[in-house]
Amino acid sequence: MSGVPILEVSNLSRSYRKGGLFGGKPFKAVDDVSFTLPETPQVFSIVGESGSGKTTIARMILRLVEPSEGSIRLLGRPLSGKGADRIDNFEFRRLVQPIFQNPFEAFSAYLPVEAYLRRTALNLRVARNEAEAIAAADVALRSVGLSYERIRGKYIRQFSGGELQRISVARALIPKPKLIVADEPVSMVDASLRMSIVNLFRQIVGEQGVSFIYITHDLSTAYYLSDQVSIMNTGRVVESGVPTDILDNPQQAYTRELMAAIPSVGDRWSELDAIDEQYSHPDIRHQSALKHPPTNA
Ligand SMILES: Nc1ncnc2c1ncn2[C@@H]1O[C@H](COP(=O)(O)OP(=O)(O)OP(=O)(O)O)[C@@H](O)[C@H]1O
Ligand SMILES: [Mg+2]
Repeated sequence: MSGVPILEVSNLSRSYRKGGLFGGKPFKAVDDVSFTLPETPQVFSIVGESGSGKTTIARMILRLVEPSEGSIRLLGRPLSGKGADRIDNFEFRRLVQPIFQNPFEAFSAYLPVEAYLRRTALNLRVARNEAEAIAAADVALRSVGLSYERIRGKYIRQFSGGELQRISVARALIPKPKLIVADEPVSMVDASLRMSIVNLFRQIVGEQGVSFIYITHDLSTAYYLSDQVSIMNTGRVVESGVPTDILDNPQQAYTRELMAAIPSVGDRWSELDAIDEQYSHPDIRHQSALKHPPTNA
């Protein structure tokens, strides 16, 4: 244990102009946001309504958008700037992997999906040849309840959204990253499969020591899944902490509004867990370390 945090986001801001490049006055899509993911692997959730700045934060962490102000450090090293200790692109892609909202957009319709996994293994030099790439893909797929054999030769249209999202997770795991940034990863997945994916994240944190940034509108999955939550409103973090503390004693009216969107946290768990029991993949169904075990267990 080195004590160096996985990720340190400090006073991060990103400005845009309302109404495009030439018109409108500048506004801050992300405004002075700070948080830390400690060395111990965990799930950090960012929750907020549409337009609150969640994706903009994710894109800055993924180096797809430059911060206007502030800094991001990964394992103590800056993501941008000209310093000698800046993390280069190759190293970055081995350490940080994305999972996007729409798994159907993550893969092309014209290549069998397993080709992407092999390519990730080769590009990121996890494998030196095709045989090693297949082996690496298979290990990753098995950790999400699939296998190379089961997906071989299939195209995206032959998978459900839930299966494809599992395959996206497997692809992200290939380089054995330290951090996965998942932006609304279950919002396009059939409701009946959402909890099995969320449970899969928990399992990966425990078994593979990967930290997650989990971005969602949905306070209920964030509560279920995370070690820490930051609530965002119009670019700012309005509340943050351990999920039970926030839900038991919300300090902000905005947080109470987000909570009101959950019919009843207590009922929702058992309902979702029941659905999960019914539909989730048998290989992983009983392995997840649940923080809130099903009440009917
Ligand atoms: N490239 C851009 N140019 C101008 N404005 C932008 C750009 N990207 C984001 N914004 C604006 O910044 C604000 C935050 O957007 P962002 O996509 O980060 O929100 P979000 O919380 O992810 O929303 P959602 O839940 O709908 O995905 C919004 O007002 C959005 O319109
Ligand atoms: Mg978004």
